[in-house]
Amino acid sequence: MSPSSREPPVALRASSAVSAADGMSALCAESFVVGCAVGAVLPDGLTPQEQALLVGQFAALTPENCMKPVSIQPAPGRYDFAEPDALVAFAEQHGMAVNAHCLVWHQQTPDWSFSGDGVRERLVDHIRTVVGRYAGRVATWDVVNEAVAEPGEGLRESPWLAALGPEYLEIAFHAARAADPGAVLYYNDYNIERPAKRERTLRLLRGLLERGVPVQGVGIQGHWVLDQLPFADLEAAIEAYGGLGLEVSLTEVDLDVIDRPDCGADVAVHREYHLDQDLYAEGCPPEILARQAEQYGRLVRILADHADTVARLSFWGLHDGVSWLNDWPGKRTNHPLLFDRACRAKPAMDAIARALQR
Ligand code: XIL
Repeated sequence: MSPSSREPPVALRASSAVSAADGMSALCAESFVVGCAVGAVLPDGLTPQEQALLVGQFAALTPENCMKPVSIQPAPGRYDFAEPDALVAFAEQHGMAVNAHCLVWHQQTPDWSFSGDGVRERLVDHIRTVVGRYAGRVATWDVVNEAVAEPGEGLRESPWLAALGPEYLEIAFHAARAADPGAVLYYNDYNIERPAKRERTLRLLRGLLERGVPVQGVGIQGHWVLDQLPFADLEAAIEAYGGLGLEVSLTEVDLDVIDRPDCGADVAVHREYHLDQDLYAEGCPPEILARQAEQYGRLVRILADHADTVARLSFWGLHDGVSWLNDWPGKRTNHPLLFDRACRAKPAMDAIARALQR
């Protein structure tokens, strides 16, 4: 079993007869940790009902935004730790792990970070300060997010690449390792289960490992669209990354019920939806929920079948009402997660329970 899945909280360890009523974490606890991204300020940004759902269903937390560069260091040398401190404290209070996200990204990062002199020093300083503050309290860090090109070859042409060259990745991983010897360090990206980007990512990771860079995990984001889940690619990717000796986590899973051609999970994409395109404003039709359930079941089955490599499955949001997919790539009513707007389990929960019994 991989490092970050070694210690699921005792209360969440599964017995063999676990049902959907026991909650998502209990269902999967024999195989991997189940986590959830939270965008609200904890604890008061959640209603008591949402808090109960979060604590009852999940064993790990990812900060949806508050640890990103622009949030945690909005101006040079001015750090804002209030929200991340509260999130880490909440997780500890409830026996949940923290999967921190993220240190180096081309999005949600102030322009001053990668312009002018001293880019490398500022990057190392950011990582030392942020990772150091939570050292020993964070299970995993997404050290670098979305560095691989798509489309294109090699690395994404990001401001980090322009400022520091390809070396920026190893600078970041070494700085993170120095600041917290115990956190499991991740490379995180979207579409890296798909063959072309998978090959580019494998090449990158192999190179890093050969040079002794302390990358230990691969985060496959998993922002997928209903009926387009790449099951076979995903299995091949888990096996390929696992073959490098890395643990694999599904770090940001959701299953969009509205097609969004050609945008992957690129947060820079914006679309205008007209009101008549808000297909499911009045609720999600049962046949769509049934397909979503079946596909979530298949997904979890695949992950459980690869439990020796898969450390964690994290959903990108607590329930449909707070999903980023209501706003990205444009505004419409979405239903991508396991729980509906009233915090009720959707059909996916039963499908997952059934899939795990097989
Ligand atoms: C998203 C958040 O969910 C939104 O609230 C924010 O406005 C934009 O970023 N890939 C990632 C995440 O790695 O950080 C993104 O989160 C979703 C895509």
